Amino acid sequence: MAQTDTATRGNWNSKLGFILAAAGSAVGLGNIWRFPTEAASNGGGAFLIIYLICCFLIGFPVMMAEISMGRKTGKNPVGAFKALSSNKFYPLIGMWGVLCGVMILSFYTVVAGWTVSYVLEEILFFAGNPEWATWIGNTGNGWLNAIFSVAFMSATVSIIMGGVSDGIERATKTLMPLLFVILIVLIGYVVMQPGSGKGLATYLRPDFSMVTPALIFDAMGQAFFSLSLGMGALITYGSYLSKKENVPQAAALVTTTDTIVAFLAGLLIIPTMYMAQAQGITIFNASGDLIAGPALIFQVLPSLFHELGGLWGAMLGITFFVLLSVAALTSTISLLEVPVSYAIDEFQIKRKKAAMYIGLGILAVSLVISFQTSLIGVLDTIFSQIGLPLGGILICLFLSYEWKVQNAFEELDTGNPGFSQSLVGKVWKVMVMIVCPIVILYNLLSPYL
Ligand code: PFF
Repeated sequence: MAQTDTATRGNWNSKLGFILAAAGSAVGLGNIWRFPTEAASNGGGAFLIIYLICCFLIGFPVMMAEISMGRKTGKNPVGAFKALSSNKFYPLIGMWGVLCGVMILSFYTVVAGWTVSYVLEEILFFAGNPEWATWIGNTGNGWLNAIFSVAFMSATVSIIMGGVSDGIERATKTLMPLLFVILIVLIGYVVMQPGSGKGLATYLRPDFSMVTPALIFDAMGQAFFSLSLGMGALITYGSYLSKKENVPQAAALVTTTDTIVAFLAGLLIIPTMYMAQAQGITIFNASGDLIAGPALIFQVLPSLFHELGGLWGAMLGITFFVLLSVAALTSTISLLEVPVSYAIDEFQIKRKKAAMYIGLGILAVSLVISFQTSLIGVLDTIFSQIGLPLGGILICLFLSYEWKVQNAFEELDTGNPGFSQSLVGKVWKVMVMIVCPIVILYNLLSPYL
């Protein structure tokens, strides 16, 4: 099996570099806008518990599977399947991953562009230009969407052009601590405000009567999206990881960081919504559910920041959207790195050229979406809600029955001697071979059963 020269492909300078890059991929818009509202409108603490189970029982084993395949082969998702099996069918799983990455990035870039436009919207508003603020904050304006998508894609491409350690690692080492600090400061402010206690109660009090198959489906989809699983992002990031590192421990740290950030984002968003309600802002939609998604982030929250006014309103508003932009950027770089690593490994294209052309190609799709934002929901359903869990099942089945668990254990024991004999190792084997594929499949089909 060909082992690529990692010195020319690039590698992480340190274990922390890998953890922060992978956690940066995981921590994104999914954590900050999707998770909190899903939790609050689906049984609060009950959703949280189910989500945690999905992350650690299903997500974590799949993450280990991906990282071990990447590190073993030192390849992109397509190359990894090629290197581990002579059957020509299996690289199609990697191709599906690359396609999901490309399509997710195309709409993610548009939404990420909105987060930047809202940094400006808040600045303009608090600088005393409410008309300009309203104009720039119009997410229905295709031209504006296009401009901000170009800006966001340019930032993503320039980081990817820098390479693995000088681009991705350097950027995430700065951005991730920044994200943590902003999140903690914002939570500190919000939980001291009137009305936020009601939000905390809604978020944390478990209502088990709301637990249904549909809710479990949501929690599982959210776990896959949030942990960046099922499309080979972690095969790619794992391929730059040194053989001396401990894969199970690294996967555990990434899963934990992502869940902590999702949990913290809930502590920020839900109390903020109730704070908004205390200010007279509507936080429920016509059917009585908490307003979620773009309407929450780009309407409810800015109304609150504006209502608060003054220095606090300005600080809260501007830093909140900087937080979102940072979270989005560390995710878009991992989404772009997947097709770029594929082009570098399989077609021997130079990194800078690959980043530029692939970035441009994906941007072309983002431009269409900029004018046709209803496509976001459709693409999200196909490529993230269905595509990622599907990829996850195929990765587990491939590892278990084609590459074989024994070989994966050999890789996992490298850097963590004795892992295969440990209890976690034995449980992992049962999870990837049987439990994960069945549970994910059942879950994918459950809306039709
Ligand atoms: N995990 C990111 C989020 O929660 O926003 C989204 C994502 C990034 C999904 C990278 C998949 C991926 F490969």
